[in-house]
Amino acid sequence: MEVVIAPADVLARLAADTVEGLLRTRPDAVLGLATGSSPLAVYDELVRRHVEEGLSFARARAFTLDEYVGLPLDHPQRYRNVIARELTDRVDLDPARVAGPDGAADDLPAACAAYEQAIVDAGGVDVQILGIGTDGHIAFNEPGSSLASRTRVKTLTAQTRQDNARFFDDDLEAVPQHCVTQGIGTILAAGHLVLLATGRAKAEAVHQMVEGPVSALWPASALQLHPHVSVLIDDAAASRLQLADHFRQTWAAKPAWQGL
Ligand code: GLP
Repeated sequence: MEVVIAPADVLARLAADTVEGLLRTRPDAVLGLATGSSPLAVYDELVRRHVEEGLSFARARAFTLDEYVGLPLDHPQRYRNVIARELTDRVDLDPARVAGPDGAADDLPAACAAYEQAIVDAGGVDVQILGIGTDGHIAFNEPGSSLASRTRVKTLTAQTRQDNARFFDDDLEAVPQHCVTQGIGTILAAGHLVLLATGRAKAEAVHQMVEGPVSALWPASALQLHPHVSVLIDDAAASRLQLADHFRQTWAAKPAWQGL
């Protein structure tokens, strides 16, 4: 696990560099996209590179992490619509090449199994962008999630519904109770995990993820089991890390050619 502590704009450029490096060498790469506010600056930077520098997504494919259950198809907070608005509609990526778990399916377990198969059929996710919830969730894998879990239906915690109410005009009742989400096992199968977190509200979750025991109580701690994880955080999100100085020194000494 590599931890980079830097200002938010630097973090966004580093994550964008990773996606760009992948697309330049493998234009048909498979991207894993996350919703939430954390990756927004990365997506803005990728759109800028598309518009100004010709970075093309035309041959890429993308899979999103999770979806609310029960939102109408045209709901602005449906994650499929969010990711279109934030990234995929702003670049040359055909919407048919973007997939997400289907929270509107009649048979949700069958749709979840089909989603797992679709990721496998695409050859697996090459780079997965991630955020982290204040309770340590990744995608919608809340505390208590199996560390080997696959795409399935989950119930959101009160904390997450409260955190996400800001996207629903602060109306807690409007936030769905259920979701479909890639499992922790699904996420761990991606080639490279790039997690972004900023702000003091994430500091405890980041500490538990990086330095805590691997535990279902802090689902993101399962990332310690993955061989290639980049944790990109600002000073505030790093404020509870015991090893912060070590991570800063390691990053400062890293040869520029190495990348994430
Ligand atoms: C949401 C999403 C996650 C996201 C997390 C943090 O509930 N399901 O994929 O990483 O919460 O969101 P934010 O980046 O807005 O803090």
